[in-house]
Amino acid sequence: MNEEIRFVSEKSQNKVIHEWDLIAPERDAQVAADRDASFSSVLQPWVLSRLGESRTVIDVGCGTGRLTSSLQLSNRRSMGLDPSASSIAIAREHDSKSDYVIATVEEWTAANPDARFDLVVANMVLMDVLRLDDVCAALGHLGQGGRVLLTFTHPAFWPLYWGYASNPGFDYSKETLVEAPFKTSSHEFALTATHVHRPLSKYIDALQESGLELSHFEELRGPEDPAVFPFPRFIGIEAEPRQKLTT
Ligand SMILES: C[S@@+](CC[C@H](N)C(=O)[O-])C[C@H]1O[C@@H](n2cnc3c(N)ncnc32)[C@H](O)[C@@H]1O
Repeated sequence: MNEEIRFVSEKSQNKVIHEWDLIAPERDAQVAADRDASFSSVLQPWVLSRLGESRTVIDVGCGTGRLTSSLQLSNRRSMGLDPSASSIAIAREHDSKSDYVIATVEEWTAANPDARFDLVVANMVLMDVLRLDDVCAALGHLGQGGRVLLTFTHPAFWPLYWGYASNPGFDYSKETLVEAPFKTSSHEFALTATHVHRPLSKYIDALQESGLELSHFEELRGPEDPAVFPFPRFIGIEAEPRQKLTT
């Protein structure tokens, strides 16, 4: 049982954003120094291998922009979007080529209803959003005519990896707000991050209801030796928004 983990009954969007503001500098230093092996050897390569011919890319929940900047090519325009102002400030410092915006994807999409991208990326974001249905609807809208690439923690195995599957009160089938010390596969920080445990079916339902058709589904192992943790810790999904019928 992991006693550092707390299940909380509610949390505001502003509080979650504030946690990411505090995490941003240390998180960025780790990724920039190549000390988050899950990012550098599993998640980033998975995303980069699926870019295809896309010319316009939006990185939703881009954090400090390390993936966003790697999406840049001379003929590809990339934009990063994140509600954490301190994350975006760091992104702008190291990457002057991408456009960066401070906003949630729900807010930005509502304010820019005509915006469309060949590729919509959300790397390790869905388990951190409070309003999954609204976020998936926004991703499907932005990706109309293009593709959506998603990675997120595998809800069947992440609770085991973190050691909270056996905590009293954990129920796989229930949506649960989880407060935990922020850590990557290589490092633990003295900061808190909140994620939302949801059963896998919730993600699939939210994507389908947003008109996103799954074209690829992959369970991704972490970089650790299988003897350390034998199960997949991440999910990678490629989806295509169904074309909206015009009347
Ligand atoms: C685990 S971090 C991932 C950051 C980055 N994609 C990466 O791979 O390093 C999750 C990010 O999602 C952002 N986020 C949370 N809710 C969001 C929302 N509704 N819309 C867009 N981004 C959101 C957080 O601010 C945070 O930066």
